[in-house]
Amino acid sequence: MKIALITGITGQDGYFLTKLLLEKNYEIHGIVRRNSQNSLGNLDYLTNSEKEKLNIHWGDITDNLFMDSIIKKIKPDEVYHLAAQSFVGFSFENPKFTYDVNIGGTLNVVNAVKEYSSDSKVYFAATSELFGKVQEIPQKETTSFYPRSPYGVSKLAGFWTIKNYRESYDLFMSNGILFNHESEMRGPEFVTRKITLSVAKISKGIQECLELGNLDAKRDWGYAKDYVEGMWKILQHDEADDFVLSTNETYTVRNFVELAFKFAGINIMWEGCGINEVGKDSKSGKILVKVNPAFFRPAEVELLIGDHSKAKSILGWEPKTKFEELVEIMVKKDLERIN
Ligand code: NAP
Ligand code: GDD
Repeated sequence: MKIALITGITGQDGYFLTKLLLEKNYEIHGIVRRNSQNSLGNLDYLTNSEKEKLNIHWGDITDNLFMDSIIKKIKPDEVYHLAAQSFVGFSFENPKFTYDVNIGGTLNVVNAVKEYSSDSKVYFAATSELFGKVQEIPQKETTSFYPRSPYGVSKLAGFWTIKNYRESYDLFMSNGILFNHESEMRGPEFVTRKITLSVAKISKGIQECLELGNLDAKRDWGYAKDYVEGMWKILQHDEADDFVLSTNETYTVRNFVELAFKFAGINIMWEGCGINEVGKDSKSGKILVKVNPAFFRPAEVELLIGDHSKAKSILGWEPKTKFEELVEIMVKKDLERIN
């Protein structure tokens, strides 16, 4: 039985990766930060029998003594390092905290592996935010990086730490450069889930209006369940390397809004421009979407569109879920939850 350690197991990707590795019969260890509610986050959505199979270790990746002792004790075959302060908007307000977790925490993970379990394979959750102000369209493994936020900069340090440890100490450490991937388990502050939750509430009459920032930002959005399969494939490959996982399609926030309302039976009509633009219910004329500059970012990533041909040819990985299906899954689940 293979042993996996997942940092960030309570997050969106942690949930789907846990389900995948349980299906593959792994012994799973997960790191969970202590919180006052003893909450296991998204893991609470697992069945009791799934939960019973997990080995939870309470601790924080910024604590190097904790990371050393865990790695020394478990000696995992595979480490999926997903834990991070992952919200780009928050990173502008809390850059130091973001650096501490995303750079310091990553160093603790890889250094513990180097010192105490050098046969472990490590997956690092790098990101399309590395491309930021894009230097090439579409973005692939060879595209130059230009991060646009403290989050992006912190992940760039993580990316190079992985590469540097791989080259310096002959360790199996790989970067997954993943484009946005969403799901019904997505945190509520990320734009996709904010939209689908609001659409569900608005259609049930318990919310008046959805306030958003930049409606024209373009993202390459896939389904998280497909992407954790790619993470696993990256660690099954016979050599450590860096891979882009993406859908190779891009849509605006505005497209996401229109489609999400459509799945709730509402047709959105846009009027006005800039911060005065509104989205109205085409039947009733009621304003359902407004622009609120509070959600603009000091520096924006305007366009992301990936090229996953390397992952396809080397790993045989391809996303299965199309954009429309993703939006439908998320809206349906939020309508079900609100009901
Ligand atoms: P997420 O839902 O925000 O999950 C982040 C996880 O990290 C949570 O389990 C969180 O624990 C944990 N964590 C944060 N700080 C920690 C600390 N100091 N010690 C221990 N655990 C800590 O993020 P996600 O969407 O699953 O993404 C997983 C990873 O992929 C992240 O590194 C993210 O930056 C990266 N990524 C995500 C995407 C995407 O589109 N989803 C794309 C590219 C890269 P709590 O539950 O206690 O907060
Ligand atoms: N969150 C949020 N809230 N974003 C908004 C809003 C809003 O009200 N209105 C417009 N947006 C725009 C943002 O400005 C951004 O351009 C886009 O929607 C997506 O924002 P997020 O959903 O917060 O995701 P992200 O693209 O910044 O970051 C996510 O994807 C990265 C991969 O590219 C996160 O999951 C990161 O952790 C991940 O690395």
